[in-house]
Amino acid sequence: MKTYNIAIDGPSGAGKSTISRTVAEKLGFLYVDTGAMYRVIGLHYLETGSPSLDGLTISLKYVNGEQRVLMNDRDVSEEIRQHSVSRAASDRSKEQQVRDFLLEQQRHMAKKHNVIMDGRDIGTVVLPGADLKIFLTADPEERARRRYDELLLRGEKTFDYETILHDITERDRQDQDRSIAPLKPAQDAIILNTTGNTFEQSVLQIEKLIRKHTGI
Ligand code: DC
Repeated sequence: MKTYNIAIDGPSGAGKSTISRTVAEKLGFLYVDTGAMYRVIGLHYLETGSPSLDGLTISLKYVNGEQRVLMNDRDVSEEIRQHSVSRAASDRSKEQQVRDFLLEQQRHMAKKHNVIMDGRDIGTVVLPGADLKIFLTADPEERARRRYDELLLRGEKTFDYETILHDITERDRQDQDRSIAPLKPAQDAIILNTTGNTFEQSVLQIEKLIRKHTGI
């Protein structure tokens, strides 16, 4: 059976995950947050100190209508959002063994379900035949402000705005410059810059594009 695959790529803090999750709920698609999968690998590394992926299982499960991220059956949905894990995820995402490990699982999900999958290399590497590819971005200052507000909400008060901006710029550079699956728009991606948009405007814009490209 044909499944619809939507790829949403872009730098961190562009609003990919919240927008993708909301649109997926509206359309009844499965939302796959591939960044969360890399974050589990980052957390696993921070905890074990070993790069080995043997025995590591990552799963996305719905609990009371909410998607949770499990590392070997342990719910790590909150832990993986910690600032230290972002860096570890970005570091480990440069490794071919890590990318191969996740690629297989991501393609499997896209084959079985209608998905909105967000990440950095979904349109270029994971789902090159996606029905629609969107590259979602926003100016670094706006992305840093969003991330800062998000961390504050979560009670992580130890970082100031300038540090976040610096980290975002640094992480962009690291994600763009790596030799394997770097962050870049696919040739056939639609580029959307959400700077100055409200969340609702971005959701509506993407929902419309998906309806147009899939006929649903
Ligand atoms: O989207 P995020 O900030 O949760 O992603 C965490 C890190 O994982 C990010 O710095 C780069 C990496 N990543 C990747 O290399 N490829 C993806 N498809 C998704 C994330």
